[in-house]
Amino acid sequence: MNINGRHFRTIWPDPENRNNICIIDQRQLPHQFIIETLTCLDDSIRAIKDMHVRGAGLIGATAGFGMYLAAINAPDHGVNEALEQAAILLNRSRPTARNLGWAVGRVLAAVTTIENGIDKKQTAYKTACEIADEDAAFCKQIGTHGLELIAAISKEKNGKPVNILTHCNAGWLAFVDYGSATAPIYAARDAGIDVHVWVDETRPWNQGAKLTTWELQQEGIANTLIADNTGGHLMQNGMVDMVIVGTDRTTHTGDVANKIGTYLKALAAHDNNIPFYVALPSSTFDWELEHGTDIPIEQRSGEEITRISGMNDKTGEIETIRLVAPGTQAINYSFDVTPARLISGLITERGIVQANKEAIDALFPDKTKTDWRMTMTPTEHRHFIRKNALHLLDYLIIDQNGLQTTYSMGRTLDVSEKGLKLETTQPISQGDTLLITVGVEDDLIDLRGEVVHTEMLDGRHITGVEFQDISEDGRRIFKKYAEAFHSARAQNG
Ligand code: MRU
Repeated sequence: MNINGRHFRTIWPDPENRNNICIIDQRQLPHQFIIETLTCLDDSIRAIKDMHVRGAGLIGATAGFGMYLAAINAPDHGVNEALEQAAILLNRSRPTARNLGWAVGRVLAAVTTIENGIDKKQTAYKTACEIADEDAAFCKQIGTHGLELIAAISKEKNGKPVNILTHCNAGWLAFVDYGSATAPIYAARDAGIDVHVWVDETRPWNQGAKLTTWELQQEGIANTLIADNTGGHLMQNGMVDMVIVGTDRTTHTGDVANKIGTYLKALAAHDNNIPFYVALPSSTFDWELEHGTDIPIEQRSGEEITRISGMNDKTGEIETIRLVAPGTQAINYSFDVTPARLISGLITERGIVQANKEAIDALFPDKTKTDWRMTMTPTEHRHFIRKNALHLLDYLIIDQNGLQTTYSMGRTLDVSEKGLKLETTQPISQGDTLLITVGVEDDLIDLRGEVVHTEMLDGRHITGVEFQDISEDGRRIFKKYAEAFHSARAQNG
């Protein structure tokens, strides 16, 4: 999209030296437009974690290029190992955005099939570029499909402005180009439709106030900033024709995780009979999850709530000030989940689809799950494990810096007296701590173990865990689990 009339993407390899990946430092917007260069994996991780870049699609694209930077900085004989480690670190950088793990997995899968180190690096570059190009192309297609909805409302209103409410920034800045929620708005503008956007400020990070308003202004789209609690009032008074928001992760059944506060807007829209649409590229679907409650919700520092930053008009400096009494406690959930029943439809690159599993499967038959493990929700898994004890459920990784990440699904490959050999859905580092739920029959127990061994085997992540400090009860359940495991394995051959 355009900045001062000049076209930019949000991430691009420097044309003079493709080992430098350029981004716009979004922390400085709208006051300063600063292009930053990423040259290594650490730069990419920091850019994601500290929100120089943000938004599902752009986090994914940055992770793709982060994998590329990890590859080029590795010796030719050590690219796989470097990428496995990079995958661990990148996956932990922000937990909710599905595009992150999706992009990391895509580069990893592309590279591990290649023999030669130099070709691996080349493939990592090609794949990262494909991820970025595809993100832009899919958002453009979302625009084409979403345009139909806006055009229909415009027709009903005899060409009067269509008032669209959006939350956070699911615009061009959250993707590589066009945005998801904004793509239909840009397409409507291009089709000569009169549109006006109500922009939620989106506390605490204020993506709406700082980014969406700026982005829309750059594109000449009429917009008005509102405080987060205003949407319900506008809806009651006929001032909102439709809501379009983005999403950071959407389950296979159509539950949507998006920026905190989205759920309240969906409730208000439902109560006022206002269409509530969610726009997303298919890379944001989590095909393994069937319940919104299983989506990992990021918690960020409470300081993002107790402090606020902006430009001091007198000095022209960007300043951060404290809003609250010293010592005020704050908790900062970054996302919430809107259940599928409150959603009028999902606008995807393939078309608009109802937010339910059947409809989503029908539109994306190629993406539906084939691996049996992926066909179970963690809840179903919990029942399954009691029955045959071959598989474990949730595991929480605590890395050596104390960072916690939860994953669901995994497979027990072997059980000894001391611990487990697992196949995990994510790579894990030696020395990390794992909290694992194991269960058999009606007993479930959470065990704490240390990762003592890791390896890659045919593209699978194998992890050895030894348990520490098992209680009497834990020991009893684990023994029962081990017996059930061995007997089930003997029966299954
Ligand atoms: O915390 P952020 O800024 O990375 O959150 C992402 C968002 O801007 C929103 O949740 C957005 O609506 C979905 S991302 C396309």
